[in-house]
Amino acid sequence: MGHVISNDENSAVYTHGHAASVLASHGARTAATSAAYLLPHLSPGMRLLDVGCGPGSVTLDLAQAVDGITGAGQVVGLENVEAPLEAARALAAARGDERTRWEVGDVYALPFDDDSFDVVHAHQVLQHLADPVAALAEMARVARPGGLVAARDADYEAMTWHPRSAGMADWLDTYRRLARANGAESDAGRRLLEWAHAAGLTEVSASASTWCYADEAGREYWAGTWSRRVTDSDFADGCRRHGLADDEQLARMAQAWREWPGPDSWFVVVHGEILARP
Ligand SMILES: C[S@@+](CC[C@H](N)C(=O)[O-])C[C@H]1O[C@@H](n2cnc3c(N)ncnc32)[C@H](O)[C@@H]1O
Repeated sequence: MGHVISNDENSAVYTHGHAASVLASHGARTAATSAAYLLPHLSPGMRLLDVGCGPGSVTLDLAQAVDGITGAGQVVGLENVEAPLEAARALAAARGDERTRWEVGDVYALPFDDDSFDVVHAHQVLQHLADPVAALAEMARVARPGGLVAARDADYEAMTWHPRSAGMADWLDTYRRLARANGAESDAGRRLLEWAHAAGLTEVSASASTWCYADEAGREYWAGTWSRRVTDSDFADGCRRHGLADDEQLARMAQAWREWPGPDSWFVVVHGEILARP
């Protein structure tokens, strides 16, 4: 893992880590699949901060939405570790985006002045933090008055799928226990509204949306990513460290994921979303 910035009081362990299998999965996200609730509020010329941008595929779509590539708008992707920014820079170069900036920093102490951005966005980040309320308050600090704070997070307990298997049920239960052992809240989607109110945000509106994997390509992608991540990412190391699953159990989870895809297989990831004023 690269250089990590963290605030000891607030630090939680990032459950997924930045293994190739994780970055490949996150790098497949688009603004259309992951920030549709925000897109209607973006316009050319805006300054946008994407906190916890990961490998940057959503960030670069958001840059397109604010005309950040041609120069009217300006987007900054921020990460507390260097590793995913290497992937983000490579993706930006491949897309011909030379203007989006990539910076290392901590969501709890953002390296920007007050009122620096029109929009401050975080996708699938608050669920990994020990203090999501402090993070939202800090995001609000760097948003200009009248600007927007936007967040979207999955709600793990609300995930549902067919057909059921013992191995996949064990995967979900283990994931939720590991996230809590790491100091974070995996069932974040349902709590975003509460966290936004606690952070003092105003005009908070909450919505929900899903990822649904129910065609051949979607099933192969989702089962492929999780079958690899169960054994190859920080998920496996965390399970061993906290005594939540041994190698045999992890192998059974991975096998259950490999067996899940079929013509009738269906998986839904429920997400909460909030849009608010600082
Ligand atoms: C699940 S990934 C989401 C990446 C990207 N937003 C996406 O949706 O593809 C969460 C990201 O938050 C980052 N992160 C975790 N703690 C952070 C912190 N304290 N400050 C900034 N980023 C953080 C992690 O490094 C990770 O890349």
